[in-house]
Amino acid sequence: MKLSQLPLDALYNENQRAWLSGFFAGMHTHKIQSIGSANQTDSQIITILYGSQTGNAESVANDAANIAKAYGLNPLVKCMDEIEADALTAIDSLLIITSTYGEGEMPDNAQMLWDSVCAETMPRLEAMKFSVLALGDTSYDLFCKAGIDWDNRLAELGATRVYDRTDCDVDFEDPAQRWMTAVIPHMAGSAATTVTENDSRVSGKPEYHRKNPFPAKLLVNRLLTAPLSSKETRHYEISIAGSGLSYEAGDALCIVPANCPELVAGIIKAIGCTGDEDEPVNGELMPLKEALRTHFEIKTPSKELIEEIATRSGDQELNGILESGDKEKLADYLWGRDTLDLLLQFPACEFAAAEFIALLKPLQHRAYSISSSGNLHPDHVHLTVASVRYESHNRQHKGVCSTFLADLVNDETRVHCFFTPNKVFRVPDDNNLPMIMVGPGTGIAPFRAFLQERRHRNAPGKNWLFFGDRNAATDFIYREELEDYQQSGLLTRLDVAFSRDQDAKIYVQDRMIEQGAELFSWLEQGGYFFVCGDAYRMAKDVDQALHDVIAGHGRFSEQQAIDYVNQLKKEKRYVRDVY
Ligand SMILES: Cc1cc2nc3c(=O)[nH]c(=O)nc-3n(C[C@H](O)[C@H](O)[C@H](O)COP(=O)(O)OP(=O)(O)OC[C@H]3O[C@@H](n4cnc5c(N)ncnc54)[C@H](O)[C@@H]3O)c2cc1C
Ligand SMILES: NC(=O)c1ccc[n+]([C@@H]2O[C@H](COP(=O)([O-])OP(=O)(O)OC[C@H]3O[C@@H](n4cnc5c(N)ncnc54)[C@H](OP(=O)(O)O)[C@@H]3O)[C@@H](O)[C@H]2O)c1
Ligand SMILES: Cc1cc2nc3c(=O)[nH]c(=O)nc-3n(C[C@H](O)[C@H](O)[C@H](O)COP(=O)(O)O)c2cc1C
Repeated sequence: MKLSQLPLDALYNENQRAWLSGFFAGMHTHKIQSIGSANQTDSQIITILYGSQTGNAESVANDAANIAKAYGLNPLVKCMDEIEADALTAIDSLLIITSTYGEGEMPDNAQMLWDSVCAETMPRLEAMKFSVLALGDTSYDLFCKAGIDWDNRLAELGATRVYDRTDCDVDFEDPAQRWMTAVIPHMAGSAATTVTENDSRVSGKPEYHRKNPFPAKLLVNRLLTAPLSSKETRHYEISIAGSGLSYEAGDALCIVPANCPELVAGIIKAIGCTGDEDEPVNGELMPLKEALRTHFEIKTPSKELIEEIATRSGDQELNGILESGDKEKLADYLWGRDTLDLLLQFPACEFAAAEFIALLKPLQHRAYSISSSGNLHPDHVHLTVASVRYESHNRQHKGVCSTFLADLVNDETRVHCFFTPNKVFRVPDDNNLPMIMVGPGTGIAPFRAFLQERRHRNAPGKNWLFFGDRNAATDFIYREELEDYQQSGLLTRLDVAFSRDQDAKIYVQDRMIEQGAELFSWLEQGGYFFVCGDAYRMAKDVDQALHDVIAGHGRFSEQQAIDYVNQLKKEKRYVRDVY
């Protein structure tokens, strides 16, 4: 039964009822995500708030809810931008599960609540018990910063931390599971019953997932950019037939790559090994060359490896940078240098196989926004991937996963993959509402999927795509498809910005500004605004352009434009898939 179908009075105390009333009142377009059941009327509510950009924290939040139910608690799972800061005062037991994005920033769907919680006017939270699970990646300077900030702020507001924060690196499942199974009994108090990880109430995952990726066959590997392009962008089609898996437009497919054998050989030579040394990896003995090919990140050097090379080489420049703690200087030093460059630069640094492996991070999957609709192509997943290739330090460098797909997969190879759903990055349920999609470069990927999805649904809503890349002649990927969509009327508007076809750069945000009046009118008609692609420059500039368009054409002040955009975000009508 849905929580919204239960009588509020029977379920909650006065504070909680007040909160829920405000909560429902604030919910215009979103259904409450219900986990309660009818026989839980007397059970204690535990609120689980997540901040998530690509779904990891959201999936942990849902797992936590299942565990909480198994402990007799009544879990209420909410995305952070679905609640107002004042509502926090009515919460007794709170779990925060959040990832960190950008450069130590909150995920998009946590930012508004976080801003309010930081305000000086934020009421105190003395009655609250809480614990924080932070998801992140140690390769970023500000590891788990969003979770750390929440942990500190809640304590500052007087809430009681019942269990220490857990910070998770990219392999978050095991520490997250340990945190959940430790903190939830605390919240449940003496009424707790024992739940094991294998309890079916806790697991319930599909057969293929992050820990057990599906071995898929690559069916199509096609160059999208013209041969003379300064870029290489490819279209892939991967078969998921027989996997039992399904996906929706807006989801991402994660690929588990293998390293390039030449890079493996170069590294083995540089550290002074043969490659045949047997080393234990995940409880299994395997030759060094196989371990480096399939288990470890060998392109991007880990912090530990850089420090060890600095120590062993005694190099003044590198040691000076490390000692200064100047992260920008270190990033500048490392730009374009991979592990092999460092090893070749300091040839005296030899390593025993075990020593070297101990300094590496596990090889990680890479995420790709899916460029097909799961309804139109249930057995196939399309990807649009820019191959990372560049010359630096007198060597050709290759991105691990993009060139694994481009160069290393043949008929015999299987591409191990799993899905990460992105529940907010979706074609609107209402087929009549307009969609505005801003996707330069590979950012076009999910919008190809969105257009397929709208065609599949015969959706009458208007569709507007802003696409851009370097040169029209070589980089206008999916041009024919898009022009067909225009002709058929599916794509109402297509505005393109080719940055390198003239002296002054023209970007998608310039086209947005040029078409500001029309863009604003689409928003006023209930339109959705989607952005995909580069997070660091493009998405920030597009965000600014959106504010400018709204302020200019809505005749709003700067603050009113901010409020307008925040409302779009709240209604999930401004969502981003940026990386
Ligand atoms: C949710 C999400 C969706 C994504 N969707 C897509 C998508 O649809 N299509 C797509 O192509 N990518 C997408 N990406 C990016 C993708 O996951 C990978 O990051 C990308 O393919 C590079 O991975 P790689 O293994 O090939 O390169 P890596 O081995 O990870 O190497 C990349 C690194 O190489 C270095 N580098 C790159 N270029 C240069 C240069 N010119 N000079 C010096 N150093 C350089 C940088 O340090 C960079 O971080 C997405 C990412 C996320 C998180
Ligand atoms: N964070 C990341 O690691 C990250 C983020 C994005 C892309 N990538 C990787 O980079 C490779 C190529 O990416 P891509 O094809 O998506 O895009 P891209 O080649 O980086 O850029 C596509 C278009 O966007 C333009 N652009 C540059 N700065 C912009 C800005 N501030 N505002 C708007 N547009 C801007 C580019 O113009 P100019 O180049 O002419 O300036 C180009 O015309 C891929 O391997 C991708 O994975 C990595
Ligand atoms: C573009 C980008 C920026 C990121 N920035 C950080 C960061 O600054 N600090 C950090 O610890 N992790 C960072 N991460 C890692 C994410 O927090 C991590 O992958 C997390 O599991 C994502 O969870 P989510 O899917 O719930 O958003 C970043 C990831 C991406 C793709």
